[in-house]
Amino acid sequence: MNLTMTPQEDKPAPAPPVEPPAVPVRVEAPAAPQSRAAAEPPAGAPALTVRKLSVYFGATQALKSVSLDVAVHAVTAIIGPSGCGKSTFLRSLNRMHELVPEARMEGEIRLFGQDICSPGVEPVTVRRRIGMVFQKSNPFPTMSIAENVTVGLRLNGERRRSVLNDRTEQSLRMAALWDEVKDRLGAPAISLSGGQQQRLCIARALAVQPQVLLMDEPASALDPLATSKIESLILELKKEYTIVIVTHNMQQAARVSDYTAFFYLGELVEFGPTAKMFTSPAKKRTEDYVTGRFG
Ligand SMILES: Nc1ncnc2c1ncn2[C@@H]1O[C@H](COP(=O)(O)OP(=O)(O)O)[C@@H](O)[C@H]1O
Ligand SMILES: [Mg+2]
Repeated sequence: MNLTMTPQEDKPAPAPPVEPPAVPVRVEAPAAPQSRAAAEPPAGAPALTVRKLSVYFGATQALKSVSLDVAVHAVTAIIGPSGCGKSTFLRSLNRMHELVPEARMEGEIRLFGQDICSPGVEPVTVRRRIGMVFQKSNPFPTMSIAENVTVGLRLNGERRRSVLNDRTEQSLRMAALWDEVKDRLGAPAISLSGGQQQRLCIARALAVQPQVLLMDEPASALDPLATSKIESLILELKKEYTIVIVTHNMQQAARVSDYTAFFYLGELVEFGPTAKMFTSPAKKRTEDYVTGRFG
């Protein structure tokens, strides 16, 4: 299918980016406007409940019976050494693990009470409600800044110029990028700096109005200034969104998150309020990791 979807566009679709973009890739009628408040249960209920989640890649078990609640309008950090299953956990939350042919999942994931893996639920619907931002920013290289923001909406069938323009501005403002790009929305996305491209990818994820934003090491390829912009942005965004962030940077987890989950060899070793995880963890292995004794 043609991913560009601009009405007058008849060129072939661009080469797929390194990571599949976190936008739904199927044409659908525009979603009915939904009130986020109406879709969410009473205060205190978690956004996501994960129960006994195991993920296998062929014979390799990458996650071992992980159970965890993700609090609403808070930042949950996933930490742990390389290969412990952080990305696998994050990807399973919006069913991206299904893009790996030999992947298999057991357990249950609920978003505001709804089982997101039940046969009647389309992955594209899940990914619209649970957006994803990757380590390596992946704007569509042939599209402008504005087109990158609205690509998900256009794929969902939205054609009204005023809606697309409004959502472009709103999403870029939310991603703290508007002031830097408002005079060159038609410029190629790849003309932006690395940090700006990452914020553009955040704007693209926000444009379809998700409830949850997943971020897999979103700042690990960025310089310190761009990293601090992303961290400030995360603290702003949690007022509106529920955020799960994978980071290998312990200071970053301590700075941005409310809750921290420590994974080791596919298991959830410990999960709790970030302050407690970093100052008085219950498990020796958590303490060893957060104090830099291994990892
Ligand atoms: N697509 C895949 N195919 C096969 N094995 C995979 C795949 N993705 C991850 N794994 C394996 O699952 C385990 C967890 O990987 P990952 O979730 O990427 O860890 P982390 O993000 O913590 O570094 C590793 O053993 C890794 O080799
Ligand atoms: Mg990873």
